[in-house]
Amino acid sequence: MEFIDTHTHSSDKSYEGEEEIVIARALAAGVSHMLEADVDSSEREAMFSLCRKHRDCLHPMLGLYPGSVDRNWREELSEVEKHDRTGVVAIGEIGLDYHFSIEFKEEQKEAFLAQLELASSWDLPVNIHLRDATEDFFSIIASTANLHLRGNLHAFSGSAETFKRLSRYGDWYVGIGGVLTFKNAGIAEEIKNIPLDRILLETDAPYLAPTPHRGERNESSLIPVIAEKLAGLKGVSLEEVAEATTKNAKQLFAI
Ligand code: NI
Repeated sequence: MEFIDTHTHSSDKSYEGEEEIVIARALAAGVSHMLEADVDSSEREAMFSLCRKHRDCLHPMLGLYPGSVDRNWREELSEVEKHDRTGVVAIGEIGLDYHFSIEFKEEQKEAFLAQLELASSWDLPVNIHLRDATEDFFSIIASTANLHLRGNLHAFSGSAETFKRLSRYGDWYVGIGGVLTFKNAGIAEEIKNIPLDRILLETDAPYLAPTPHRGERNESSLIPVIAEKLAGLKGVSLEEVAEATTKNAKQLFAI
């Protein structure tokens, strides 16, 4: 069986010195590709350098994370625009996050829109981080319908209705991770009404480890735990989940 982790951070500081072991464990678990989400200039080079070392299985994204948008966002954005695009599979993670602060709300919106335009001009999919900003997100997505964007909402925790609404504006998928396995997670109900051909697997490691590892450092090798849970909820075999989500990821990210 083959799996793809469509959103992870294998070069995160929490893996320092253990990156090779963590990647080897993922490969051994059947996770053939890992998509590395970009955050900002403080972490970008470590991520790209790990990806260069593992060209066949680690693929970089490029983008400015909404939580990193502050006074210097224009400078950060220009770093993104002039970065080497070799091997880049998506613009991400980009989006809106009003959860911890709305201080730079307007700047977040501007940075998000600029990066959607960038994705369109580079003909790349987008990997979106969205938290507590659904209405602003939809007004931006509606305003960019002419860009024919494609991509996914990573760590999706919305409703099947929200996904349906999004699907009107382009070619969209949802990224499903460890939260699916958490007790009382709303997404476990909602995912039943989102078709398997629109679902991607992801860890967002080192965060959001699935049950029974909740609270521990997460890693890509735990993708099959999430897949198993999804198979149960969908009433299909683990093989079917592996096959469908791998096909979806290969199609969207052109791997
Ligand atoms: Ni992330």
